[in-house]
Amino acid sequence: MQHSPSDMRHMEALLDFYLASGVDASLGENVVDWFQLSEVQAKARQQSPMAQVATPAMVPGQDAAQQAPQIPPQHQPTSQRGAVQAAPVGGAGPRVGTDHGAIPDQAVISMARELASSTGSLADLQACLEAFDGCNLKRTAKSLVFADGNPDARIMLIGEAPGRDEDLNGKPFVGRSGQLLDRMLKAIGLDRTQVYIANTVPWRPPGNRTPTPQETEICRPFIQRQIELVNPDVVVFLGAASAKTLLGVQDGIRKMRGRWMTYPVAGRQVAALATYHPAYLLRSPLEKRLSWRDFLSVKSKLSELG
Ligand code: URA
Repeated sequence: MQHSPSDMRHMEALLDFYLASGVDASLGENVVDWFQLSEVQAKARQQSPMAQVATPAMVPGQDAAQQAPQIPPQHQPTSQRGAVQAAPVGGAGPRVGTDHGAIPDQAVISMARELASSTGSLADLQACLEAFDGCNLKRTAKSLVFADGNPDARIMLIGEAPGRDEDLNGKPFVGRSGQLLDRMLKAIGLDRTQVYIANTVPWRPPGNRTPTPQETEICRPFIQRQIELVNPDVVVFLGAASAKTLLGVQDGIRKMRGRWMTYPVAGRQVAALATYHPAYLLRSPLEKRLSWRDFLSVKSKLSELG
């Protein structure tokens, strides 16, 4: 079909309008998984800056066949142990994850569960997370923010996700909210040598956005294992996010805070309390009086438990 010059101008004007409106992809007859494709393109670029992934419809099959994830034997899901792994892609050494872009979230979550439960110590868990590429947050974060404090502590404090300062330092709660947390601990006679601190999600979400439900689900088995390995007497959830993720409760923090609950750790019911997140207290200083009560309650729980 021939188009007249005025048809062409009209079409160009329409495309300009679409571009100006932020439309950057067109719909074709074939269904394209753009999420998968962007992973494939990122991988291709990593291997060769000039590499182009030109034919979307061909990519998924080709990619799955060529790029299986590399998993260290001790951290392979049992379902894959002994299976033949494809040759490493790009020679980057063993990694665990979804570099091939073809593993759906559910499979990554199952893999995370198996990997986390295969670890026998905190050092092992940390190494496992360092090698895990199944959570996209790792791509934008500078560091894995695993933990701070004393692994033998009786109290474990759990936040949501690292921010900028934590990402730069590789330690949880070192920014402004961390300094407030230190002051609150000091007020009940504790410091970081007497507590263990971690986050539900160990990588900083870009721009400090809230982790997505998928990112949280992928990271959940690791923090669950971390709690098991620390095996504290008391767990304190800093903010609603970590309490909701780990206790499965739906209440808001106002309703939930200050109420003793239990968190199951290896067949044991561990005393658990949610309190306001220090970042919230920085914005709402009047609420500090309630946090103060919560921290006193933690202190008396510890004495009660002996
Ligand atoms: N907020 C969190 O939830 N965790 C941190 O480590 C820092 C800020």
